[in-house]
Amino acid sequence: MKILVVGNGGREHALAWKLLQSPQVEQVFVAPGNGGTAIMEKCQNVPLAVDDFAGIGSFAQKNNISLVVVGPEVPLALGITDALQSQNIPVFGPSKVGAQIEASKAWAKALMEEAGIPTAKSATFTDAETAKAYVTQQGAPIVVKADGLAAGKGVIVAQTLEEAQTAITTIFKEGIGKSITQSPVPNPQSPVTVVIEECLIGEEASVLALTDGVTIRPLIPAQDHKRIGEGDTGPNTGGMGAYAPAPLVTPSLMERIEREVLERAIATLQKRQIDYRGVLYAGLMISPQGELKVLEFNCRFGDPETQAVLPMLETPLEELMLACVEQRLAEMPPISWKSGACVCVVMSSSGYPGDYPKGKEITGISSAESTGAVVFHAGTKFDQTLVTDGGRVLGVTAIGDNISSAKALAYKAVDRIQFAGAYYRRDISNKAIP
Ligand code: AMP
Ligand code: GLY
Repeated sequence: MKILVVGNGGREHALAWKLLQSPQVEQVFVAPGNGGTAIMEKCQNVPLAVDDFAGIGSFAQKNNISLVVVGPEVPLALGITDALQSQNIPVFGPSKVGAQIEASKAWAKALMEEAGIPTAKSATFTDAETAKAYVTQQGAPIVVKADGLAAGKGVIVAQTLEEAQTAITTIFKEGIGKSITQSPVPNPQSPVTVVIEECLIGEEASVLALTDGVTIRPLIPAQDHKRIGEGDTGPNTGGMGAYAPAPLVTPSLMERIEREVLERAIATLQKRQIDYRGVLYAGLMISPQGELKVLEFNCRFGDPETQAVLPMLETPLEELMLACVEQRLAEMPPISWKSGACVCVVMSSSGYPGDYPKGKEITGISSAESTGAVVFHAGTKFDQTLVTDGGRVLGVTAIGDNISSAKALAYKAVDRIQFAGAYYRRDISNKAIP
């Protein structure tokens, strides 16, 4: 079977790598891919942009692709699944309307309310003045969220009223998170919407689940590290590292997440006749008292969480994905996992998440992998040699008997990799180590 993965990050390298572990998968193509997917055996990059639906469709037809797996949220929100399905190409990933669960925070909030899913109290506004008045009335700390996709720049956890007001001004002035799809915004005259939310405290966890639109099966829980600095300081990033399974999500908490979050979400999507086949990712806040609330839903695999979760998976990934696409997930045996734990440390370019240089030569990956670690590429490319080509450059990943041993192995591999300006956090997974 031949599979086409859409995207170019560490998540897509991890997806291609895991898919190729199955003897059923003869070849994986990645559009457009990166330096890692370019050199992986049985893997080939295809120079097509993630939003070139016509190009992706005709490539899939010509090359007898059995399944297209969509990594990032933007093509999903733009309707890649609908476009390919209309050509009878099987796609793992929700339809355009289903992807609204990530592409519009207001839409997601309304769905959570309808479904009775525990989440932060919120209100939605389409003009800055009313939003500011609400913030003043609620007080700080408070969270300001741009409605649409904003590449990680759409959420401001404001400690003061002033910060919240400035965030609202900026979102409206710069049009941050302007809907790229036809999200049913309450005020069609205003392309900008903000969600103002109660500020929650606690520990975050990511639960990614596979669904065929009827049945939903969680993967092992993971924890991301969103801030650039050690001890969770500094600006937000796409994620500086992850580990799985996250002990914060105990078996009894996982049961509640299944019942109160995942099953309710799928039931409500079904009630709205939304055919959702792919990943439903719940970003959760667990309060010190063990109270559970959803911070956000994503319509895709998380990155870097996927790089820590997939290495632990034993069930062939393509079997699970096809079961989702063909709506027979309920017939699959329980998902099987390796014992132990996995830690992924992201190495980034200096300056990230702000401006950063590109084109810095990367060395030491073979030496890092000789320790048993796997190095997933994110922002890399081949330009005679392997060079940096993005903010997040590599995801250095290792499995161990437990989180501390996985962490030690991952950092042993990190220490063997060099590129000018390489930055990484030294404390990935510390929260899970007693
Ligand atoms: P989101 O894109 O909604 O996940 O938000 C990005 C990050 O902002 C989350 O991972 C949290 O760290 C933080 N965040 C979002 N919503 C809240 C909230 N209601 N209370 C506190 N922090 C939040
Ligand atoms: N790691 C966070 C995300 O994928 O959205």
